[in-house]
Amino acid sequence: MSSMFSPWRLSVAPMLDWTTADCRFLHRLLTRHTLLYTEMVTTGAILHGDQPRHLDFNEEEHPVALQLGGSEPADLAACARLAEQWGYDEVNLNCGCPSERVQRGAFGACLMAEPALVADGVKAMRDAVSIPVTVKHRIGIDRIESYEFVRDFVGQVADAGCEVFIVHARNAWLQGLSPKENRDIPPLRYELVHRLKREFPRLTIAINGGLKADDEIAEQLNHVDGVMIGRQAYHEPWQMAQWDQRFFGEAQPLVTRREEVEEQWLAYLDRQVALGRPWSQAMRHALGLWNGLPGARRWRQVWSDHKLKAMAPREVARLATEARLQAAEIASQHPAFKPPVGAAPATG
Ligand SMILES: Cc1cc2nc3c(=O)[nH]c(=O)nc-3n(C[C@H](O)[C@H](O)[C@H](O)COP(=O)(O)O)c2cc1C
Repeated sequence: MSSMFSPWRLSVAPMLDWTTADCRFLHRLLTRHTLLYTEMVTTGAILHGDQPRHLDFNEEEHPVALQLGGSEPADLAACARLAEQWGYDEVNLNCGCPSERVQRGAFGACLMAEPALVADGVKAMRDAVSIPVTVKHRIGIDRIESYEFVRDFVGQVADAGCEVFIVHARNAWLQGLSPKENRDIPPLRYELVHRLKREFPRLTIAINGGLKADDEIAEQLNHVDGVMIGRQAYHEPWQMAQWDQRFFGEAQPLVTRREEVEEQWLAYLDRQVALGRPWSQAMRHALGLWNGLPGARRWRQVWSDHKLKAMAPREVARLATEARLQAAEIASQHPAFKPPVGAAPATG
């Protein structure tokens, strides 16, 4: 693979409870080059908690970035050092999370109001490690709609040495909206992110928020250096099987059939069971694997059936595949049949 592409060209977003090591292992079965982010881990959890539990990952996950939540420069530096020791390829600072719990800790999106503190944190981390230190943020907080706000934030943090900014192209409303609403309700304003790239051409600017189709990703790459995909990647993982070819110049996709992914994933589940973990912990991240094809819902239902939790993964897989093929067969015989409204899977 040549170095003609930025490592940030395409990435899967940090998502709490979702982009766990299991989830990232699955995603890596689908795309070799897409950069994968961990969930946010707070500096407190790392410095005072169970470090292997928070930091361990599978070797296969590279390139993988650790996202930190925190604001105290010395703590951020200590955690960045651990991230580098653990083998992460990048450390990212969360300046975009709007949850109240995070605000009480004075980090996440409210840090956008304190660019000097972010700059100190970035500088402390950069002094501590040689892996890239990056920042993920919003375009504004609350009712601040002006471009100048985000421009000054980026400018000040860039002066402290940050060269890579991943911008969720909507404001965070720190009061009155839940974190989930904060991912949907404040309007998307991609133009502001494009303008950042134009005005800071030497910085790496990646865009995030509401992007789904590969054509949309390709269009964004005309304006910015990279695209970060969150919910779409999680809910429709098979889409990622196109990405190495389409966005990283590979001649071949890593996999061409979902069955190949499923087989490798089952081997992973077997290993987890051998380590004493229930396979369902990992499997919840793979429930979208067949999405988009007939029988996907039945496949997912079998895997989600609590009564089957004590069975070995391969036995459940056999039942799930049977159910999927049966449903697909019925669908092919009744092409006009549409499942009743509400029967479709929830996609978050
Ligand atoms: C379940 C969930 C958890 C999230 N957790 C984090 C997080 O830990 N850190 C973070 O920076 N963003 C987090 N986000 C926000 C995503 O990284 C991303 O910015 C957002 O979902 C918009 O991108 P999308 O429209 O492509 O999903 C989370 C999003 C979701 C859906």
